[in-house]
Amino acid sequence: MSGILNHQDSGVLTLTFNRPEKMNALTRSMYSGLAKGLNEAAGDFGVRAVIIAAEGDHFTAGNDIMDFMNNPPTSDDSEVAQFLASLLNFPKPLLAAVKGNAVGVGTTMLLHCDVVIAGPTAKFSMPFASLGLVPEAGSSYLFPQLVGYQRAARIFMTGESFDADAAKEMGLVSAKDSDPLAHAIKIAQHIAEQPPQAIINTKALLKARNHDSVAAVMKAEFEIFSMALQSEEAMEAFMKFMSKKGK
Ligand code: COA
Repeated sequence: MSGILNHQDSGVLTLTFNRPEKMNALTRSMYSGLAKGLNEAAGDFGVRAVIIAAEGDHFTAGNDIMDFMNNPPTSDDSEVAQFLASLLNFPKPLLAAVKGNAVGVGTTMLLHCDVVIAGPTAKFSMPFASLGLVPEAGSSYLFPQLVGYQRAARIFMTGESFDADAAKEMGLVSAKDSDPLAHAIKIAQHIAEQPPQAIINTKALLKARNHDSVAAVMKAEFEIFSMALQSEEAMEAFMKFMSKKGK
């Protein structure tokens, strides 16, 4: 079991994080399940749009800290690198429905989505520096582009979180709704009814300006991130998290 549920209805595929007991912290098999879901959807004429959603009260607490400690992703064929490549290159509309915590990659993956709907409990954070790490998934490029340099720097450097209203004002989410998944499904179905090639071409044009820059930034981030994962600063932060949890 990958920890990802796949559900397809009327041209809309929903990929759901299914590890609510661990706040949907993403494991290697979950990244694999996501990459597989996106890659298959890209080549499946029957899939017109994909939604990323979550079981439970939270979107995701980010990368599983145990995995960071025991199996640090350091190569291009690591599960997380494969997922990020699928995300960057996914040619069809990608939506997300966010409730509760969206930590780390839980927020940075949204920078690649075409439409994000947030619930009133949504709480976004990218505490990479606090963990001895660095921004990933192209966020060191995409986030300042979205919100301006100083706001991005403050959020990255303090690790502070922000809510759905702030995310909407930034343009990280397009709407706030008490039922973010229902709202995302409605938009995805509307998109799925449009001429599919026109939608794919539209997305390609929207993403074209950034694509190569984001790919280059992701590569550079990944190299620094891989080294940082094995640093003393990161180990200390991971141990602190584990000891807080009494593990
Ligand atoms: N990796 C592994 N397990 C995680 C996790 C993660 N990233 N985030 C949460 N969990 C687990 C907790 O260990 C706990 O499991 P347990 O019940 O077996 O002890 C369970 O999920 C619930 O989390 P908990 O910490 O008890 O919830 P909380 O409401 O007190 O705190 C957070 C919520 C998100 C603030 C806190 O879980 C946290 O800081 N998580 C780590 C986030 C992080 O740094 N992610 C990496 C980003 S790069």
